[in-house]
Amino acid sequence: MKVTVVGAGAVGASCAEYIAIKNFASEVVLLDIKEGFAEGKAMDLMQTASLNGFDTKITGVTNDYTKTAGSDIAVITSGIPRKPGMTREELIGINAGIVKSVSASLVEHSPNVILIVVSNPMDTMTYLAHKETGLPKNRIIGMGGALDSARFKYRLAEALEAPISDVDGMVIGGHSDKGMVPLTRLATRNSVPASEFISEERLEQVLQDTKVGGATLTGLLGTSAWYAPGAAVSGLVQAIACDQKKIFPCSTLLDGEYGLSDLCIGVPVVLGKNGIEKVVEIELSDKEKAAMQESAEGVKATNSLLQ
Ligand code: 2OP
Repeated sequence: MKVTVVGAGAVGASCAEYIAIKNFASEVVLLDIKEGFAEGKAMDLMQTASLNGFDTKITGVTNDYTKTAGSDIAVITSGIPRKPGMTREELIGINAGIVKSVSASLVEHSPNVILIVVSNPMDTMTYLAHKETGLPKNRIIGMGGALDSARFKYRLAEALEAPISDVDGMVIGGHSDKGMVPLTRLATRNSVPASEFISEERLEQVLQDTKVGGATLTGLLGTSAWYAPGAAVSGLVQAIACDQKKIFPCSTLLDGEYGLSDLCIGVPVVLGKNGIEKVVEIELSDKEKAAMQESAEGVKATNSLLQ
């Protein structure tokens, strides 16, 4: 199993590290445009192999896509991260050109690749990757909901005063501060609805804190987060590489599901060896349907900014 990660910045390097530590991939190629940067990160990571007990071979390359040839899965993290006070959508001017050329180069050298898009504004970058590559829709996946759901569970556990392992919840919709749809109605503590334990007001606070989870960290760090994004995307890579058939909320090109078409937005999907094995349509409340509709309008507005 060969995986390429484009972008050796904090998110890409964290993703490469988590993939290696999980030890399901034979090879990870880390690519960056900055001379020597990916080579250095790869060498540093390989020097943890004996310490962290993995056999995965991580190699770094500077902008040489021939070294990515034959990748089964490729993760696109390249582009600029947001600064405090910025929205993800404001990154489109620079990141669209990067994602367009990166996705084309990846597919040129790995025609059977499954692409996972992380770069922001992620739902629009995922849509752009479709337009640029023409890959079948099961082979282009946007990573946002897995990260947002992890943040949702973090906030739920805090509110429930419960261990994270006891908590479950999912975030669908756009990966944006306004567009996320945390499904508080379906959140549980060990299969018991969270609403049995905490008030609707407290659940609403969890929802709001989740929506700005990325922005909160950007305010604290001065740049976008990287540990949880890296870990989230490594979970998608593992589900595909190991054909796990796990359900994740991922940005995918919709064609009528959830009453939406011609956009990429976060919905529950089954991930396996074919990438998106299927879109899972769950029954939403009227409030959730309205939130998804509003979120889709926001994603389409950002899509309209693509040249
Ligand atoms: C985040 O929410 C980078 O969009 C990513 O942290």
